[in-house]
Amino acid sequence: MATNYSSFLCFPFSFVLLLFFFGCSKKVEAINGAKELLGNLHQQTHVITVSSLSPAKVCSTPFKGSEILTSSLKVAHKYGPCSPLKKANTENLHQILLDDQTRVNYINSKISDQSTIETSAVQIPANSGISLGTGNYVVKIGIGTPKQDFTVIFDTGSDLTWIQCQPCAVQCYSQQDPIFNPFKSSTYANISCGTNACKQMQSASGNTQACTTKSTCSYEVAYGDGSYSIGYFARDKLTLSTSSDSFLKFRYGCGQENQGLFGSADGLLGLGRNKMSMVSQTAKKYGKIFSYCLPPRSSSTGYLAFGQQVGSTSKIKYTQLLTDKRGSSFYFLNLTGISVGGKKLGISASVFTTSGTIIDSGTVITRLPPSAYSKLRSRFRQGMSKYPTAPAYSILDTCYNLSGHTTVAVPTIVLRFARRTDLNVDVSGILIQASSTQYCLAFAGNSASTYLGIIGNMQQQTKEVVYNVAVGKLGFGAGACS
Ligand SMILES: *[C@@H]1O[C@H](CO)[C@@H](O)[C@H](O)[C@H]1NC(C)=O
Ligand SMILES: *[C@@H]1O[C@H](CO)[C@@H](O)[C@H](O)[C@H]1NC(C)=O
Ligand SMILES: *[C@@H]1O[C@H](CO)[C@@H](O)[C@H](O)[C@H]1NC(C)=O
Repeated sequence: MATNYSSFLCFPFSFVLLLFFFGCSKKVEAINGAKELLGNLHQQTHVITVSSLSPAKVCSTPFKGSEILTSSLKVAHKYGPCSPLKKANTENLHQILLDDQTRVNYINSKISDQSTIETSAVQIPANSGISLGTGNYVVKIGIGTPKQDFTVIFDTGSDLTWIQCQPCAVQCYSQQDPIFNPFKSSTYANISCGTNACKQMQSASGNTQACTTKSTCSYEVAYGDGSYSIGYFARDKLTLSTSSDSFLKFRYGCGQENQGLFGSADGLLGLGRNKMSMVSQTAKKYGKIFSYCLPPRSSSTGYLAFGQQVGSTSKIKYTQLLTDKRGSSFYFLNLTGISVGGKKLGISASVFTTSGTIIDSGTVITRLPPSAYSKLRSRFRQGMSKYPTAPAYSILDTCYNLSGHTTVAVPTIVLRFARRTDLNVDVSGILIQASSTQYCLAFAGNSASTYLGIIGNMQQQTKEVVYNVAVGKLGFGAGACS
């Protein structure tokens, strides 16, 4: 948790400032217990300074992850002050939320396509080629010999890795780094049609056009918003830039025709669940284990690490990763309940089983089934009733005008998963600053009960999130970056 705000076990608010000076949360617990304000001792509010919710203008703390973690990459928010993408530094929340809704609509259209395919007689490969263009966090990877560094979006919601690639036979958009030249890499090779690698890519992505005209296997990833990348399916050496780990025959897309919402990122690193993903391709070395910490926009950098981390300090609680035939790329979780302000909401289990829930690094705002969201919202509004409301902002319908306040007591939100694993959402993932005085609840409701619940990246901020795909579990650890 950042040093400019603190959380206390406090209720009611009038005690907060008083007890702030005593600096003794034990005392607060005792008072709360004595007053029987709580059924249990769950934390009710985060008390923070309002200014701590504003995005920082400068990149503050340098990345320290590589000192503790092995095989790790520095993660920066695409639009934050630490982003290597200089051109992307002007962020527009309105546009981010529009793009976010496009991504969510696309995920759901793929999921519902899948169910219509299942009921028809046509056998189409499980649609694991679901590919999503937007994403908010970038890392640097090295490709080729000698290696060139590329700044790519990392995405747990898609599988194929690709970068823009010379000669950009049709088109490349303008990007951060010089465009990769395969002719200058001694380890680059086109993958031919008829090889197992090509067939595997075709079946994993449902890509039927891979070998219609040329002997070189081609790939095509189309994104829901009209963004796409098309090019040669290739292999080359992948190097994790901040470690010495390298993978000689890493398979990825050498993009000849690229367009879309990638900002000025050079491409995309696919961390989805199917065979094409980087997680699967590096399984021998890393055992299909990776972890990350996503920094809040208002702060510095986080990390993306591969393999079991022995030096990890925080205690990780694990829940099960579920598989679901509606989307084999996705990481499904068993969301079982939600607490707001320390109290569990009365949501029946069938609400979550009807929708299903995934965790996604590329969706910004967590989406909940409509009935779950409306209960969360009304409890949250009760907890915030002392603050004046402000108009809705885009998809965010619960906003407050905090212009007259220097501190704010924000109800805690805990997402509860099977096996008693809780995601205690950092306050940076509860309230988002929409304009100079307007702060909104950073959750949204789906428009239909069958749409997927999605744990978005804002609500994962500052946590250590560990994917152990090999044994099918996902863990959360407390504050690993802030
Ligand atoms: C890859 O294949 C394409 C299409 O056949 C060809 O034009 C290109 O020169 C090949 N690239 C390399 C580096 O061999
Ligand atoms: C918040 O309140 C201030 C002071 O009353 C007002 O000037 C401002 O326009 C309000 N902002 C919003 C977003 O409602
Ligand atoms: C999800 O968790 C609940 C509660 O622990 C359990 O009853 C249910 O069987 C789990 N669902 C799946 C699909 O494993």
